[in-house]
Amino acid sequence: MKNLVILVSGHGSNMRAIVEASRRDDWAGRFGARIAAVMSNRADAAGLEWARAQGIPTESLSHTAFGSREAFDAALADRIDARAPDLVVLAGFMRILTPGFVARYAGRLVNIHPSLLPAFPGLHTHRRAIEAGCAVAGATVHRVTDDLDVGPILGQAVVPVLPGDTEETLACRVLSQEHLLYPRVLADLLSKE
Ligand code: GAR
Repeated sequence: MKNLVILVSGHGSNMRAIVEASRRDDWAGRFGARIAAVMSNRADAAGLEWARAQGIPTESLSHTAFGSREAFDAALADRIDARAPDLVVLAGFMRILTPGFVARYAGRLVNIHPSLLPAFPGLHTHRRAIEAGCAVAGATVHRVTDDLDVGPILGQAVVPVLPGDTEETLACRVLSQEHLLYPRVLADLLSKE
């Protein structure tokens, strides 16, 4: 079995889309792949509760309990390694990762970012796209490298920025496309492994 470990910090709607696609599209039968665990740095992440209710193993590990980024990342990596991951999938995991963590999962670590990278790395992507007068916005799935929101692009989804858009309306339009994009890119990766 190929094991996917998904990391979330909050709502977990991308994680949910991935889990649902894995079932609907029979990733176990087609790719020998399964969602081995969902983990969060926040015990109250709504996504964790949903995953638990689906019978998926979940774990939470609070970053506030650790004295340094390195210590937290090392403890998290130990939990992840216990699931023998073939892919570590960041889905709204709002932590900057240490180089040690990124190196440990080199070639196995992917992320979704709510902009058309390389435009707008970092936070407040939708507000910045509106302020810049962009005609289009979107989301990017990419491999994770040491630099924040940089790394080989695996897939993108594009949406229009409409007159009168607010940060919220644009975020909502982009997120609905993220839910299609992320499962599609993961299925593509799994089919090639
Ligand atoms: C998504 O829009 C994702 O692209 C973004 O957080 C949201 C998580 O939503 N990720 C980042 O900003 C990473 N820097 P979700 O928890 O409902 O999947």
